This record gives sequence, structure tokens and C-alpha cells, in this order.
Amino acid sequence: MAGARKLVIARPFGAEPLPEDFCLQEEQELPPLRDGQILVEALYISLDPFEWAFKHLHKVGATMIGSQLARIVESRSAAFPAGRLVVGCFGWRDRTVADVGPRAHHPLWPPALLPRDLGGLPPSLALGALGMPGYAAYFGLLDVCDPQPGDVVVVSGAGGAVGSLAGQIARIHGCTAVGLVRSDEKVRWLTEELGFEHAFNYQTSDVGAALRRVAPGGVDVYYDTVGGDLSSAVADCMRQRGRIAVCGCVSTYRDPRPPKMLLIPPAVVRKRLRMDGFMFTQWRDRWPEADERMALWIRQGRLKWRETITDGFLNTPRAFAAMLRGDAIGKALVKV
Ligand SMILES: NC(=O)c1ccc[n+]([C@@H]2O[C@H](COP(=O)([O-])OP(=O)(O)OC[C@H]3O[C@@H](n4cnc5c(N)ncnc54)[C@H](OP(=O)(O)O)[C@@H]3O)[C@@H](O)[C@H]2O)c1
Repeated sequence: MAGARKLVIARPFGAEPLPEDFCLQEEQELPPLRDGQILVEALYISLDPFEWAFKHLHKVGATMIGSQLARIVESRSAAFPAGRLVVGCFGWRDRTVADVGPRAHHPLWPPALLPRDLGGLPPSLALGALGMPGYAAYFGLLDVCDPQPGDVVVVSGAGGAVGSLAGQIARIHGCTAVGLVRSDEKVRWLTEELGFEHAFNYQTSDVGAALRRVAPGGVDVYYDTVGGDLSSAVADCMRQRGRIAVCGCVSTYRDPRPPKMLLIPPAVVRKRLRMDGFMFTQWRDRWPEADERMALWIRQGRLKWRETITDGFLNTPRAFAAMLRGDAIGKALVKV
């Protein structure tokens, strides 16, 4: 069988991913398929901050982890026929032989077959609104925070894949969405295109003063993707018994050591805030519910999405570093 290209970890990681951290390796020939296996060819590689959050666990010589949208080109599994599209954690490689089916072991989450017809929506959405970022936004907001009409919902990382969706889902549920981002371009995208009621550039504005102005009674819900100083500032502006969904803490992912528990801001105690962490995988049984509702909202024009696409497999490390710097708007992808 023909071979594959893969990007492997060339040396221990530092704070930021650098192109020299990865090297291209070729597998001359992939093994023939056994029963319960498929051969896939990558279409899009998903760039996700969690890949860097676990950087201290990655081993030199290993293929970089990550999920991708791929086409099944050969199959020895009736449930995963050739020609269909699949999302799987196959890592940074262009062709992969993978185990599928109930007994197959998958370190992250198992491959999922896409429906034959996404109702005219592009399949790359399976890595965005109709995939991990969508599930984190949908369940993390609705199940963890139980937003009520009229609530003020603040979202950090609001220009990213998860945050941009979480804020829009809040609006669909009658809440006032407030986004925190790093650039005026993202502020304009949120307020002029996505319909966020307010958005603030946290580098050029006083976030505390801005939130007290737009939520004089206090922020009801904080959907947090970044952690750190920004989250302390938001916690200070919350109302008593406000709810915080801790989706991620991307502001700490570049730290050389695994982040320690940060000092809990006194506001969490004083205001008796409720902070809940979650993983999108905990709702695996309900992913179809999210897919259905998110796809409906997209078709209705109530949920908008955007992709920042980099062309070419070999550009994956560069695009990954740019995503971690916050350069991407919406979902960051590599078109293989
Ligand atoms: N719990 C779960 O199940 C789950 C699932 C998916 C993702 N996540 C987490 O959700 C978070 C967002 O993921 P994503 O896919 O939306 O990533 P993304 O598209 O890259 O968005 C992340 C955003 O974080 C912001 N950011 C980066 N560094 C920052 C810093 N130092 N301070 C403040 N903001 C910073 C960037 O926006 P600005 O440049 O505008 O600040 C960027 O747009 C990550 O923490 C990820 O690990 C969790």
C-alpha cells in the first residue's frame, strides 16, 4: 500500500511552538488493512489549543496529536465504508490506517462517521460548529450555565472557534452577549456580523469598567476559554451567585510547566460564584442533539461561523503557532 507523510516532534517543546520543533517523516508503505480497519486520507487538519495544553506529555519522535476530517479510501469495516467522510484523532499525518468500531482503542475520542448529507453545509464544519468546538460551546453554555433570557453572558476568547459560537448561542437564548477579544477587527466581527451586543478589546480597554457599564447589575454568566488575569477581571464584575463555565485556559498553555491552580480571585468567594469545569466528551451521547440544533440555527442564519484556512500540510506547524497567538478568526484549519 502507498505511504504517508507525518509531522513528528523533533525536540522538546518550549513555550511557543516553532517550525523546528517538528520534522517531516515519510512512511514508505502503510500496512495492509486488517478486519475493523480503515485507510483514510486527510482533507483538513484541525488546529486546537488543547494540543499545546498537553505539550509536556508529548514525546520526541511521536507524531503530533490532533484531529482531522478525512475521506475513507479503503475499508474493512462495514460501519465505515470507503468514500465516506470521518472525523478522527489521527494526528498530523496525511494518510492513516486506523482501527474503528466498538472494540478499537482511541486515546482521545473514537472516529465518528459524518452523515452522507449535511444538508448543503460544508463538511469542514465537523471540525467546528458541528464538532468539538460546537459541542463545547453548546453544552458548556446551556448545560453548565443554564442561561436565562435577559442574562448578561460574557465570553472570553470570543473571536475563536468555541467562544464565537458560545456567544451566539447565548443570544439565541435571549441573553445579552459580551465578547472579550484582542483586536478591533475581532470586535467589529462580533458586533457587526455575529450580533454580539458588546465586544471589547481587552488590550486597549479597561475590561472591569466596560463590564460595569454594560452590566450594572452584574454579569450573570461567564463562559471562560482563557483564564488568568482576564478572568479575574470578569469575576470581579459578576453578580452574587453568578455562574462560570471553565471551558479552557488558553492564556496558560504557553507556560513551560503544567499550570498550577491559579489564585482564586476573592470575588469568587465574596460573590459565591459557581465555577464548573467540563469536557465536551461528557455529552457524547447527546452530540447528535447539538449537531441537529446547531445545523438548524446555521441554516436559519442565526448562527454564523468563520474559518481561517491555511493551505498545505507542511504549513501545519506555522498555522498552529499562529492559532495559539490568536491570529486566527473563528476555526483554524489546515487544508491538506
Ligand atoms: N472543555 C472542552 O471540552 C473544550 C473543547 C474545545 C476547546 N476547549 C478549550 O477552549 C478554548 C478555546 O478553544 P478554541 O478552539 O476556541 O481556540 P481558538 O479558536 O484558538 O480561540 C482561542 C482564543 O483565545 C484567545 N487567547 C489566546 N491567548 C490568549 C491570552 N493569553 N489571553 C487571552 N486570550 C487569549 C485568542 O483570542 P484573542 O487573540 O482575541 O485573545 C483566541 O481567539 C481553549 O482553551 C481550548 O482548550 C475546551
